[in-house]
Amino acid sequence: MTTDASLLLDRRRFLVVVAGAAATAACGNANAGPASLGEVGAGNVKDVTAGTLQPVGSEPVLLGRDSGGLYAMTISCTHQGCDVEPSGSGASLTVYCPCHGSQFDRNGGVLRGPANAPLVHFAVSVDGSGNITIHGGTQVDASTRTAVA
Ligand code: FES
Repeated sequence: MTTDASLLLDRRRFLVVVAGAAATAACGNANAGPASLGEVGAGNVKDVTAGTLQPVGSEPVLLGRDSGGLYAMTISCTHQGCDVEPSGSGASLTVYCPCHGSQFDRNGGVLRGPANAPLVHFAVSVDGSGNITIHGGTQVDASTRTAVA
C-alpha cells in the first residue's frame, strides 16, 4: 500500500527529473561548440563604444570593443551550449550563463565554472566606411583585435 508521504516523494522525484530534462534540452549537448555563424554585418564602428560588449541582433555572437579594437565571440557557453549574456558594465562587465552559473570575463576567459574552456572568438573586419563584419567561419585567438580609428 502506498502512503501519502511516498506519493509526495515520488512526485518530487518526477519534478526533479522533468526539470533536469528541460534544462538539458535548453542547453543543447555537453561540450557543444559555438553555434553556427556565417558572415554577419554588425553595424558601424562609430556606434560601438570602447569598453562595451553587446549582442548583435539575434545572431549568436557578441561584439566587443576595448583599447585594442573590436572583437567578437560566440554566445555558446562552453559547458553545455546555453546562450551566455553580458552582465554588468564598465569595470564590472562580465558574461554570464544562466543555465548553470558559469561566468566569463569580458574577453571570454572563464571566471567561474562549471565551464572550463573560454568562449570562442571570431575574426572581425571593418571596411573603409566603418561597416563591421564578423566572420563566423574564422575562429581566432582571444587576443586578436581589429584596430579602429
Ligand atoms: S551551459 Fe552550463 S554553465 Fe553554461
